[in-house]
Amino acid sequence: MFEAPIFEKGSRLEESGIAESRLLPEVDDPSAPIETLIPSNLIRSDLPLPDISELDVVRHFTRLSQKNFSVDTHFYPLGSCTMKYNPKVNEEIAAMPGFTNVHPLQDESEIQGTLELLYDLEQYFCAIFGFKAFTLAPVAGAHGELTALLMMKEYFRAQSTEHRTQIKNKIIIPDSSHGTNPASAAMVGFETIVVPSDSHGNVDLEALNKVVGTDTAGLMLTNPNTLGLFDEHILKVVDLIHSVGGLVYYDGANANANLGICRPADLGFDVAHFNMHKTFSTPHGGGGPGAGPVGVNEKLEPYLPVPRVTKKFTVYSLQCTGFPKSIGKVHSFYGNINVLIKAYSYIRNLGAQGLRKVSEKAVENANYMMNKLKDYYFLPYDRICQHEFVISAKWQKEKYGVRALDIAKRLIDYGFHPPTIYFPLIVPEALMIEPTESESKETLEAFCDVMIKIAKECETDPEIVKSAPHTSPVSHLDETKAAREPKLRD
Ligand SMILES: Cc1ncc(COP(=O)(O)O)c(C=O)c1O
Repeated sequence: MFEAPIFEKGSRLEESGIAESRLLPEVDDPSAPIETLIPSNLIRSDLPLPDISELDVVRHFTRLSQKNFSVDTHFYPLGSCTMKYNPKVNEEIAAMPGFTNVHPLQDESEIQGTLELLYDLEQYFCAIFGFKAFTLAPVAGAHGELTALLMMKEYFRAQSTEHRTQIKNKIIIPDSSHGTNPASAAMVGFETIVVPSDSHGNVDLEALNKVVGTDTAGLMLTNPNTLGLFDEHILKVVDLIHSVGGLVYYDGANANANLGICRPADLGFDVAHFNMHKTFSTPHGGGGPGAGPVGVNEKLEPYLPVPRVTKKFTVYSLQCTGFPKSIGKVHSFYGNINVLIKAYSYIRNLGAQGLRKVSEKAVENANYMMNKLKDYYFLPYDRICQHEFVISAKWQKEKYGVRALDIAKRLIDYGFHPPTIYFPLIVPEALMIEPTESESKETLEAFCDVMIKIAKECETDPEIVKSAPHTSPVSHLDETKAAREPKLRD
C-alpha cells in the first residue's frame, strides 16, 4: 500500500483531541512573540511542518519501517555481505552504561575494563587468525586495507634504504577481487596488476608467474575468494610472492568460512583485515558503524598504527610512544569501540567450539543450496564451495531473455531478499548466494523451491519474471534512469 509522505498528512491534530499529549517542552510565556523565543535568523516562515498527532507519526514511521527487508524479518542471502543473525545479547552488552558512558578523553585509570576488553580481543584475534599482533582502530574493511597497505609501503621504504634498492611498487590483484582492493592500493601509491582466474576459480598460476618480479610489493587475495572458492594452490601462490621479497595480503572481510578451521597466518599470509560488520555480530550494510581490525606478522608489527593497547603487570594503556616505526594514527581515539565490544561478546558467547561450528554450518548450508540449484542454473565452477557460491542466469538469458536482475526482482514477490547480482564481475549474469549459518534447513529449502519455481517461470511465462516485482510498493524500476535522474520528492 502506498504511504503518502508525512508532509502531505496533517490538519487533524485539533480533531484528534490529543494535541496536548505531545511531549513538547513548556515555554515560560506561550503568548510571547516567537522572535523572543527563537533567534530571528533561525526562524523560517516557509517550513511546511505537518500538523499531525503523535499517534499518526508513530504509525507512519512504523508502516515505512515495515516496508523494509531486514535479517530480523526475511532470509537475506546477499553474497559476500554475510547477512547473518546478530544475537541481541551482544547489542545489550555493548549498550551497558559502563561502556557507553566512557568519554574518549577520560583518564585511563577509569577505563581499565574497556582497555582490558580491547587488549583481550586482540589476543583472541591473534589466536583465531594466527597473527602476531592486531590493531583494532580501522573502522571499515577498506580502511583496514588502507592501513595495511600504508604499513607495507613503510616496510618497503625501510627495506629499500637498508638494501639500497628501488622501492617495490606493484600490487597484484586477482580478477575476482573486491573493488576496494585495487582502490586502496592505488590510494597508497601502488601500481596494480590484475591476474586472471583459471578454469577452477583459482588464481591462474601461469599468469601469476609472468607478472611476479623484483618490483612486486605484494598480492592481495580473498580466500575463499568472491566465487566462494578456496584457492587450491594457495601455498604455491604465497611462496611465489615471498620468493621475490613481496608480502601477501589476506582480504578477510568475510571470515565466515574460516573460524576454527583455517588460519590465514598459517598459510603464510603476512597481513590481513577482517570486517566485524560481517562475521562478528555487527550488521553489514546500512552505512552504520563498522570495524576492520588488521592482523600482522613480525615483519609488519613495528609499523602498526598508534595508539596500541598495552598491558604492564595488571595496568592497561593506550600507548602512542615507544613505536618509532609506526605509521601513526589512522582514526581518532581508538576506532569504533562499540562494534569491537560486540565482537568480543560474540567470541566469548560462542567459545572456540562455537566459532568452529559457525563456519562448518555456513559452509554446509552453502553447499546444500548449491547442489539443489545447480540443475536449474548454470554453475560456472562445479566444486565444493565455502560459505557462499555463485550461479548464473546465463541459460535463462540465452533462452528466454531473462536476466539475473529480473530473477532477483522476482524473488521479492516471493518474500525473499535478492542475492548479490553481477558480482564477481568474471561471471556473466552472476547470482551470488550466501545463506550463512543462521538459517534453518526449512528456510534454505523454501528459498531453493522459489528459485526453481522462477527458473520454470522463465520457460513458461518469462514476462512475469521480467516485469517483477509485482507485490512491492515500488515496481520494476528503470535502474539507469533512476540512478541518473533520481526523483526523490514525488
Ligand atoms: C571481500 C571484501 N573486501 C573488502 C570489503 C570492504 O569492506 P567495507 O565495505 O567495510 O569497506 C568488502 C565489503 O563488502 C568485501 O566483501
